[in-house]
Amino acid sequence: MAETIPDLRKVPKAPAYAELQGHFDAILDGVDDEITAMATIAALVHHAFGHLWTGFYRVVEPGQLLRVGPYQGSLGCLEITFGRGVCGNAAAERKTLIVPDVEKYPGHITCDARARSEIVVPVFGEQGDLIAVLDVDSDRLDAFDEEDARGLERLVTCFAQ
Ligand code: SME
Repeated sequence: MAETIPDLRKVPKAPAYAELQGHFDAILDGVDDEITAMATIAALVHHAFGHLWTGFYRVVEPGQLLRVGPYQGSLGCLEITFGRGVCGNAAAERKTLIVPDVEKYPGHITCDARARSEIVVPVFGEQGDLIAVLDVDSDRLDAFDEEDARGLERLVTCFAQ
């Protein structure tokens, strides 16, 4: 496998995500494995953009409990209840949440004290069921916007196919 992770930190977000999607599709071509896909997305997104923490919390008890899955970064907390923190709220509401300043988000769960902003994207399976959330943390304030939401949401459509 000759794929490497591009450095997209200085590339405008729309073309950056398009390039990353191309890498992901090429790497995963013919491989149908949820954990492999999660690990590959985490590695690509984390290193291409230089984020603080990038990874998945998987639904282990529907409507109740998330548990950490493949990730890159410092140690993540192991379990998050639906409705708690940014991840638990994104899971409960089944929608993308963008948090420009984590200190202003009531109930934010701090896994790494350097985290300043965060985006959490719901991940749906083949039946439209919530199977996980993708959580990305930055050490910069206001690091995420609608283009990140669109790019990350597109990456995780692979789990619905
Ligand atoms: N900040 C998240 C918790 C997960 S860690 O950041 C890896 C939250 O509030 O849900």
